[in-house]
Amino acid sequence: MSNRLETAQKLAGKLFGTVHGPLVPKIICDHGEGIYLFDQNGKKYIDFSGGPMAVSIGHGDKRVRDAMVEQMDKVSFFFRGFWLNEPLLALAERVIKISPPNLTMCQFCNSGSEATETAIKIAHQYHVERGKPEKYMVIGRWQGYHGMTLGALSASGFTLRQSKFGQLLHHWPKIGAPLCYRCPHELIYPTCNIRCAQALDEIINQIGAQYVSAFIAEPIGGAATACMVPVLEYYPMIRKICDKHDVLFIDDEVIAGFGRTGKWFGIEHWGVNPDIITSAKGMTGCYTPMAVVIIHDKIGKVFSEKGAAFIHGFTMEGNPVSAKACLTVLDIMEKDGLVERCAQIGEYFFKKGREKLSHHSTVGDIRGKGLLMGIEMVKNKESKEPFDPALKVSYRLQQLAMEKGCMIYPTAGVINGIRGDHFLVAPPFIITESEIDTAFDMLDEAFTDFEKEVL
Ligand SMILES: Cc1ncc(COP(=O)(O)O)c(C=O)c1O
Repeated sequence: MSNRLETAQKLAGKLFGTVHGPLVPKIICDHGEGIYLFDQNGKKYIDFSGGPMAVSIGHGDKRVRDAMVEQMDKVSFFFRGFWLNEPLLALAERVIKISPPNLTMCQFCNSGSEATETAIKIAHQYHVERGKPEKYMVIGRWQGYHGMTLGALSASGFTLRQSKFGQLLHHWPKIGAPLCYRCPHELIYPTCNIRCAQALDEIINQIGAQYVSAFIAEPIGGAATACMVPVLEYYPMIRKICDKHDVLFIDDEVIAGFGRTGKWFGIEHWGVNPDIITSAKGMTGCYTPMAVVIIHDKIGKVFSEKGAAFIHGFTMEGNPVSAKACLTVLDIMEKDGLVERCAQIGEYFFKKGREKLSHHSTVGDIRGKGLLMGIEMVKNKESKEPFDPALKVSYRLQQLAMEKGCMIYPTAGVINGIRGDHFLVAPPFIITESEIDTAFDMLDEAFTDFEKEVL
């Protein structure tokens, strides 16, 4: 073992927590370039999941580096509460330009979880300013994920990430996910009459609309549902139900936002206007922490009519170096047409993925949109019976894929929070057709090795 690896492995015990799943990292990430990451021995890995579905324009883009250095040479930090922040103002203008109609204001923060917390607080204060302070509850979905902080985790429906923190969380109500492959109501589309959307109306009636502040959902599922894509009627129905009950619709675009699904925002596939959008990950290309909450003007109007300040803020919020990085990422996405590219190459990505993987008996479902794909693993394809959760099969597949040089994002709990295994692939937007072929070839081989072990 090299000295460098030995030292790193010894020091690893000094980092508390944050291990993703049962596998402890055993290699050093040395550097990144385009769609690739390289380990300490120079071995190349395709970053086929973009980390946690986050890398957008690829690794090591010198244009982002140069823009960040230019800003650092001027000033790296000043407090947003005391100074006008030019890069951030330019970023707000750009974000609003690409946002759905009537979303006209931005609040910046540093992570997707902070964005969820911020959105929950904006929604509640909006009701408070309108004389409805009892509207506080946020309804989410089983399965859904909105972040690790306590408010965000309370709004999530992701048992494996929540179970150790029961007493700390608000046990806000949830509706089932609009996942046709495993319909929570055991119905079949279209005769189901989109019962999964009607469930929101039912639960609000049961709780009492006077207590419900907002409904939060990822437009296309992420880690919790392996990229579930609701049917076309779903979000228009959700929008109507929210309006009927004076409940705000928070659209969590932390993964789907900024191009990955082939539109700037995932919700555009349904032509629906949310009240609040949260986003992070792809907007900064992962060069630096940055997240945004985009707010409907009806909310802005209430705050300004009441002369109310939003009681909130973070020290590092809207850091000018991060804002400059985001502006450059957006420049690159626009100049290189990367959103259109996600839509176009996304077609090839799904065609190839299905061609290479569907024949495996442990591949139950392949779903998603653009460059966001979820693959559900099953023990029995016909009955959709899952594996024993103790086997942690998606993590085993990750290991096998990594040995071949392909990174995927494993997770579990799609069925009832505990059972059901799946993984996500969400490569950088610059991936080419031949690189897609290579990555799926590696995954195909990883599945063959995996099936030899488990079947
Ligand atoms: C849909 C969604 N919302 C929120 C978050 C939280 O984002 P962060 O990890 O940046 O706090 C995530 C993270 O994976 C996510 O996928």
